[in-house]
Amino acid sequence: WLMSKNSKINIAFIAAECAPLAKVGGLADVIGSLPSALPKDKTNVVVIIPAYETILKEWTKKFTKKVERIKVKFNSSIKTAIIHQVIINSVPIYLIENKEYLSTGPIYPRPDASSSGSEEEAKRFLFFSQAALDLVQKLEIQPQIIHCHDWHTGIIPYLIKSRKLSFKTILTIHNLAYQGVYLASIVNRLLEVNFSTKLVNCLQQGILNADYVTTVSPSYAQEILTPEFGRGLSPILQKIKDHLVGILNGLDLNAYNPANDPLIAVNYSLSNLRLKSRNKLFLQNKFSFEQSVEIPLLAMICRLTPQKGVVLLRDIVPRLMEQNLQIVILGTGLPSYESVLKLFNRRYPRRFHAEIGFNNRLAHQIYAGSDIFLMPSRFEPCGLGQMIAMRYGTIPVAHAVGGLKDTIRDGKNGFLFKNYQAEDFYQLIERSISFYRQSEKWLQIQRMAMQSDFSWRRSAREYLKLYQLVKLDKFC
Ligand code: GLC
Repeated sequence: WLMSKNSKINIAFIAAECAPLAKVGGLADVIGSLPSALPKDKTNVVVIIPAYETILKEWTKKFTKKVERIKVKFNSSIKTAIIHQVIINSVPIYLIENKEYLSTGPIYPRPDASSSGSEEEAKRFLFFSQAALDLVQKLEIQPQIIHCHDWHTGIIPYLIKSRKLSFKTILTIHNLAYQGVYLASIVNRLLEVNFSTKLVNCLQQGILNADYVTTVSPSYAQEILTPEFGRGLSPILQKIKDHLVGILNGLDLNAYNPANDPLIAVNYSLSNLRLKSRNKLFLQNKFSFEQSVEIPLLAMICRLTPQKGVVLLRDIVPRLMEQNLQIVILGTGLPSYESVLKLFNRRYPRRFHAEIGFNNRLAHQIYAGSDIFLMPSRFEPCGLGQMIAMRYGTIPVAHAVGGLKDTIRDGKNGFLFKNYQAEDFYQLIERSISFYRQSEKWLQIQRMAMQSDFSWRRSAREYLKLYQLVKLDKFC
């Protein structure tokens, strides 16, 4: 027992995204930073993701020479998967290439990254799950724990259990809204399994079969036990709630540091915070807004999906635009949201700018250059934007849910509203602006925000404890 406690734990992360290789949302940031934050003397970690078309186009120069082929039994025949490897921050990342299912087209067929339930999508992620499971059995490090993330890999704990493989499994839920539900007849055929229900819900299978389930903030872990946030899965989550824990995500403090961020106009830190306003002038200039450090600049950066509360913002933009303030938005997503924002672009050309797309440099410039960061999310498992904003001394105004509630302290390092209603959001923006106008108070809030500890170190410690627990079966 002592022996196994002292030896290293080998872990394979399996996920659909990993920054900087393939990023749609916050999932990529977690997979791109948690493995390297785990203590090297206690863990060996590898990451497995699909080799999407964009990765094969942009990253091949960085691939290590080692290429392997594996055979994957899928859809009643034997397919070949090519395994590439790239090492980022000393973490080996395995990329699974297969032209038929994985390596053509965008990461997700839908612009908002939601699951479509289509057969094509089932093939993509079930093939990935099967191939990843075949791969882990061949890896030199011999993982003891398979750490799956979200619905894309939710079937893996089920396959491990039903095939009596000896891996321990953890499933992390980054977003319960996306579940991956397919006709059982399709899943049965593709994976040679035997579901007798009509539908198979991949996330649900992960929840039921993983040894432990985590989610990305303590508040969200509580919220998803209720019908309001449970997305139909709260009864099942209730069942396993002794094996469910919320661990707050961290932030990559090096990638987001106003003191040496190469992507922003002027670097600044706590000791020379007044330099922050030059970043604001830069943004105002970029978007042809009136250049003035006095005018509050509000920003929002997110996927344009129902989750993010775009409708609350939409409802109050006309009222906000009656005041002397400016708004910048960056994101892509549902076409209907995009067109409303474009309409505002035309209506308020000198004070409102929505940039439709994703642009990392611009994102950094907005975090640095704006005063107030809006996050009216209807629900938010963890949320990264508020943490980045705070690190840049940009004050979040957010809905008090999930990770937002766990990272923002109202009136201290940001502002929180309780009811998911446009009016409440509006009132809170007003309140934040009244603070903004009192420069001493605002400075104090900025200081508190910039000093908040969102390092991965803290979260990594909690994950390590969990890995030790799961490896030793101590929770049973
Ligand atoms: C999802 C959630 C977000 C979380 C991220 C990483 O994108 O919506 O709240 O921060 O996953 O866990």
